[in-house]
Amino acid sequence: MKKTVTIKANNKEYKLPVVIGTEKEKGIDISKLRAESGYITLDPGYTNTGSCESSITYTNGEKGILRYRGIPIEELARKSDFIEVADLLIWGTLPDKGMRKRFTDMLTNNALLHEGLKHHFEGFPFDAHPMAMLSAMVNALSCYHPVLAQPHNPREIEKAAAILISQIRTITAFSYKMSRGEPFIYPKPKYSYAENLLYMMFSLPHEHYEVHPEVKRAVDLILILHADHEQNCSTSTVRMVASSGANLFASISAGIAALWGHLHGGANQAAIEMLEEIHSGNMNVKQYIKMAKDKNNSFRLMGFGHRVYKNYDPRAMILKKLSKKVFNVLKHKDPLLDIALELEDIALNDPYFIERKLYPNVDFYSGLIYRAIGVPKNMFPVFFAIGRLPGWIAHWKEATNNNRLQIARPRQIYVGPAKQGYVPISKRSTK
Ligand code: ACO
Repeated sequence: MKKTVTIKANNKEYKLPVVIGTEKEKGIDISKLRAESGYITLDPGYTNTGSCESSITYTNGEKGILRYRGIPIEELARKSDFIEVADLLIWGTLPDKGMRKRFTDMLTNNALLHEGLKHHFEGFPFDAHPMAMLSAMVNALSCYHPVLAQPHNPREIEKAAAILISQIRTITAFSYKMSRGEPFIYPKPKYSYAENLLYMMFSLPHEHYEVHPEVKRAVDLILILHADHEQNCSTSTVRMVASSGANLFASISAGIAALWGHLHGGANQAAIEMLEEIHSGNMNVKQYIKMAKDKNNSFRLMGFGHRVYKNYDPRAMILKKLSKKVFNVLKHKDPLLDIALELEDIALNDPYFIERKLYPNVDFYSGLIYRAIGVPKNMFPVFFAIGRLPGWIAHWKEATNNNRLQIARPRQIYVGPAKQGYVPISKRSTK
């Protein structure tokens, strides 16, 4: 028998079906509640609302668990690479050798931007924010690949995914080069995904450029850790835009815009700016902690807290170790790392943070690694976007391949003025 829960309203009982997930998560299906009772549920910020059933990623915030298609993030971080993880997220299984080669070849063959698209860079001011350029350029891809904008069969989806995953890296590198007035560098087929990203960004035509193997691996690992995180703000945006029938490129462009905010993917930049401020002597660690706790101040400790994790974010745990490793191999010293460690230590022993279960999130340590390898601050969220792209594609595919796809259209409780008449301008009181 199907499980139900009963709610009482209007002196009547309403039986609502219960949906149970693989890990025994329980959801109440309220889709018929308004039609039957006149009530809607009110949940600003969707803190307790499931927007879909999904088989891509599982998180358990209380236990600090993250799994892509059932595989723990720690295991993927140790054994896999970003392109394999992209395949896993988009297609649901780890690729065999043939699938892997096929997709790698497609990435190589689709790395170059259409020359027409390349000219768009000339229209941006040199100091344009790279997230603005990225969102605009990804949307512009729909003009150059109209057939793939609404991919219907697996072959078309694979091609669209290859264009996006390969060209997001080229767009990133070109926007960086444009900001510095340096010539665009084209990718080399023999390089891995992460290596090509660094090569296109940091090499110059007249100089030999080599990336340290540990740095390549670190960037690849960072991309794996960011690849999906179920119904976060940007992914929900991608799914919401997709629900209207909007094309893949437009939906992902909207996801990039959502990621840009400082409460989401922009937090990695904001976290480093906070550490820099402490280092400059303008503020000290204790003042920041005090400000974060002050209810009359909207400031929040950047890179701390998470809607889902009420325990240490497993990605932050891996990144903390990784930052120390990268610093060692590059013989890099950064006073900001010591400040970050001190900040974390004080926060994790402070009753305010303990009571609210606030721990470092993925954005707390990633910026320190980016800094060590020379990525400028305004490009931190761009690296996040490159990593998150396979997840967005997987969610777009899952949402649009659903025969029961409904346009995402929440309701509201109206609290504005009651019905009133129109007053001609001559009769309106002056304010
Ligand atoms: N610093 C200080 N206090 C915080 C912080 C923080 N970073 N995060 C949450 N709190 C407090 C809130 O003020 C609230 O306190 P209250 O109960 O006394 O009112 C309580 O903890 C619960 O916070 P909510 O706002 O309800 O948590 P929510 O799930 O809505 O927000 C968010 C999650 C946005 C990540 C929040 O923790 C935050 O703003 N963190 C800083 C920005 C950041 O690091 N964002 C990156 C998140 S990870 C990602 O998107 C990839």
